[in-house]
Amino acid sequence: MHEPFEPGRDFAVALDREDPLRRFRNEFHIPKRTPPSPQPSPPVGGRGQGRRGDDGEEEIYFAGNSLGLLPKRTQRYVDAELEKWGRLAVKAHFSGENPWMPYHEFLAEPMARIVGASPTEVVTMNSLTVNLHLMMASFYRPTRERHRILLEERAFPSDDYALESEARLHGFDPAEALLRVRPADVAQVLEREGGSIALVLLPGIQYYSGLAFDLEAITAMAHGQGCVAGFDLAHAAGNLVLRLHDWNVDFAVWCTYKYLNSGPGSVGGCFVHERHGRRPDLPRLAGWWGLDKASRFRMEPGFRPIPGAEGWQLSNPPILSLAAIRASLDVFMEAGGMEPLREKSLRLTGYLEWLLQREVGDAIEILTPADPRQRGCQLSLRVKSSGSGRSVFEKLEASGVTCDWREPDVIRVAPVPLYNRFEDVYRFVEILQKAL
Ligand SMILES: Cc1ncc(COP(=O)(O)O)c(C=O)c1O
Repeated sequence: MHEPFEPGRDFAVALDREDPLRRFRNEFHIPKRTPPSPQPSPPVGGRGQGRRGDDGEEEIYFAGNSLGLLPKRTQRYVDAELEKWGRLAVKAHFSGENPWMPYHEFLAEPMARIVGASPTEVVTMNSLTVNLHLMMASFYRPTRERHRILLEERAFPSDDYALESEARLHGFDPAEALLRVRPADVAQVLEREGGSIALVLLPGIQYYSGLAFDLEAITAMAHGQGCVAGFDLAHAAGNLVLRLHDWNVDFAVWCTYKYLNSGPGSVGGCFVHERHGRRPDLPRLAGWWGLDKASRFRMEPGFRPIPGAEGWQLSNPPILSLAAIRASLDVFMEAGGMEPLREKSLRLTGYLEWLLQREVGDAIEILTPADPRQRGCQLSLRVKSSGSGRSVFEKLEASGVTCDWREPDVIRVAPVPLYNRFEDVYRFVEILQKAL
């Protein structure tokens, strides 16, 4: 059979040479391996000077599913806002380049392209879990007959807690109201229990296994049963090609610190389908930033929401965080959006899978589905020899690989097409082989 890849470092180097996106690695600060020093300097120094380990060897950074790397231009974008604050102070809301008052609007177009939406369907605000609650206020409208929430059995804990608390808030017992199902059983459970389910809330990609859910099919099934379909896209935004509008998704929430490279705890994203955005009568938790723009500074009672996702905003947003998101989204747009990135990602992760199977297939099990349509860039690995996973992970870290460990026994590795190389994948498998 024809093999899609070849062994050996030269092949990886050749793939990098032919990679049309290779220049984007240079858009990022790649952490360096440095011997621990008694007084470590901060990761980002003033005015672009003194970055950590400028002269060390670059790490193999496969943790973009946890915290994406810092784009070099981010400092310039954030500095520009600090400079305006110093020079214009409060006047910067309305004057100067990129005034703060409409600043979140500058992010709408590129963010919409990331998730396959129109600009009025997305807004950048709050953080993921906060946005999930805001969406539930509007879209979890349980009745006695239809009040259950379908989620996956290994939902990210924050989602699980949020959904439990929402069920309780509406007077239901979470033990009965929350239907935690295995990914493979979603269709069957929807078919059987659909009449009692108010909301289906699933991830785009399962954080632990790396499994990608079929959002289009799930949305259609949920709607067929009269349920609302909402998604947590923390691991899917900036990783998969998404078409939230066309798939008719009701709402979605995501963070920007993973694949969207916008910094620790940066502001999250939220999608509301336009058919809901057009409905000012939808119940919601309101704040002044969601108010019809012409009326915002009249300071009068009477909330009339901005049409579209913006109408769910509560507060004026943190501009420094939005500046970092803008910088990162500009990199994505220069790379041509999600399609070319996904194309490279399929190849990069495909190469990782192929090399793993060839070189260490006896010693590790890949938990992530083998079908590339059912995964993003991440592969979740389990070391077969029981109890040794943690020590293998520690050896990887000591050898300059940054990936992550998830209890009880999984090593997650995520080669990211914007900044990872085929050579990183090659070196990773070489190091893993030694560690095993
Ligand atoms: C899948 C998933 N959902 C939710 C969250 C929580 O995000 P936040 O802390 O921004 O609310 C995370 C955080 O890593 C996550 O990975």
